[in-house]
Amino acid sequence: MKKLYGVIGSPISQSMSPLIHNDAFSNIGIDAHYHAFHVEKNHLEQAVIGMKAIGVEGFNVTIPHKEAIFPLLDKVDQGALQIGAVNTVVKVADQFVGYNTDGSGFVQALKEVSAIQGKNILIVGAGGAARAILYSLALESNVTITVCNRTEAKAASLIEEFSLTDICISITVEQAIERLCEFDIVVQTTSVGMFPSTNETPLPDGKFKKGAIVSDIIYNPLKTKLLRDAENQGATIQHGVKMFVYQAALAFEHWTGQFPDTKRLEQLVEEKLG
Ligand code: ATR
Repeated sequence: MKKLYGVIGSPISQSMSPLIHNDAFSNIGIDAHYHAFHVEKNHLEQAVIGMKAIGVEGFNVTIPHKEAIFPLLDKVDQGALQIGAVNTVVKVADQFVGYNTDGSGFVQALKEVSAIQGKNILIVGAGGAARAILYSLALESNVTITVCNRTEAKAASLIEEFSLTDICISITVEQAIERLCEFDIVVQTTSVGMFPSTNETPLPDGKFKKGAIVSDIIYNPLKTKLLRDAENQGATIQHGVKMFVYQAALAFEHWTGQFPDTKRLEQLVEEKLG
């Protein structure tokens, strides 16, 4: 019988997850379907109970349910627990188990363009996306991480909460701009530069290190002002489609044990974005 997967969230109509997962299922030859379910906050509990009742094998969780779903799951993986957000649910022996593949997806995508070990990394932002990315980057060996945020105190308390004060410090955005040339890898996790504010950058006039890797998690537009500036200075750039595809690929792997062709999926998403 065809297996059923999906994503729950609100809004959900723009989600590109069905495109990715249904392509991967048919490309690998798995008889399954992935559907986007519009679920409002007040229906979350019923939706999760219903997913189990109708035999859904696994699903993704997006805004606004990534935190609220915790008490509705049978188990939550340690990483998701620390990050404080679940984006992937896997059915294991009739139990729903929550995972977070956002941070690990980001790190796997970054490894396509750079080694991470021993690098001096700047994370811009201290919101939900930054939490997942900081958690996963800090698992890599021998990294030094600096987090800058409009509200620096939020960056500082995130570092404290994760007990990362030995490898991680917080600074202001102004200090980050001044010291930008020190960082091997720059990771932009805020919404600054997202459509329609495509001429905004969180690091105006910053001078990147020669040979720097600059990654922006935004994918609309594909090349943010930050990435255009970085590219003009000779940096290697990476846009947000990669993280999006890799978090999906890791979810797919949790469900099926198989890792899909990420290059093919990136191309699909880029075509769809135009
Ligand atoms: P997400 O889950 O996408 O990370 P979030 O948790 O709301 O969203 O976090 C948004 C991040 O973008 C935060 O780091 C936020 O900075 P503050 O903590 O100071 O609010 C940052 N951000 C959003 N709008 C910004 C702006 N106009 N300028 C600078 N930073 C901004």
